[in-house]
Amino acid sequence: MYELLDFKKITDERGNLVVIENNKEIPFEIQRIYYIWGTPDGVDRGFHAHRQLTQVAICLSGSCDILFDNGKDKKVITLNRPNYGVTIEPMVWHEMRNFSEDSIFLVIASGKYDESDYIRDFEEFIKLTSFQSE
Ligand code: TYD
Repeated sequence: MYELLDFKKITDERGNLVVIENNKEIPFEIQRIYYIWGTPDGVDRGFHAHRQLTQVAICLSGSCDILFDNGKDKKVITLNRPNYGVTIEPMVWHEMRNFSEDSIFLVIASGKYDESDYIRDFEEFIKLTSFQSE
């Protein structure tokens, strides 16, 4: 449903550094990056799946939980280290919750923004995933 990524930290007396390159630490060609911060307490985001897009999410600062649902199983993971990432695969419903006040949530995406790639209706998502598993 997802892959956890543990980016290599280059640490010396000056602190830490993580390197991310196309098709290396990130398993695709990077087309877009966006980030979310200043999320008010109690606000959840996401609530959609993508038809084609693959993404990697990293909580650069603070923490947040991501619920994944592939139409069959649900899993929740916590991102709380700037060197941890998680893949958000196509056709996986995801909801981001419990953003800490200091969270900076970075997303690296395999494609440009395309609203037609979104499935924002959970019933439609369930219909499409049950069709896939038949
Ligand atoms: P939205 O998909 O609701 O964010 P989230 O998945 O985090 O809940 O996106 C919020 C708004 O930003 C929406 O109007 C679409 C716009 N947007 C872009 O224009 N480009 C982008 O790359 C992204 C991710 C969103």
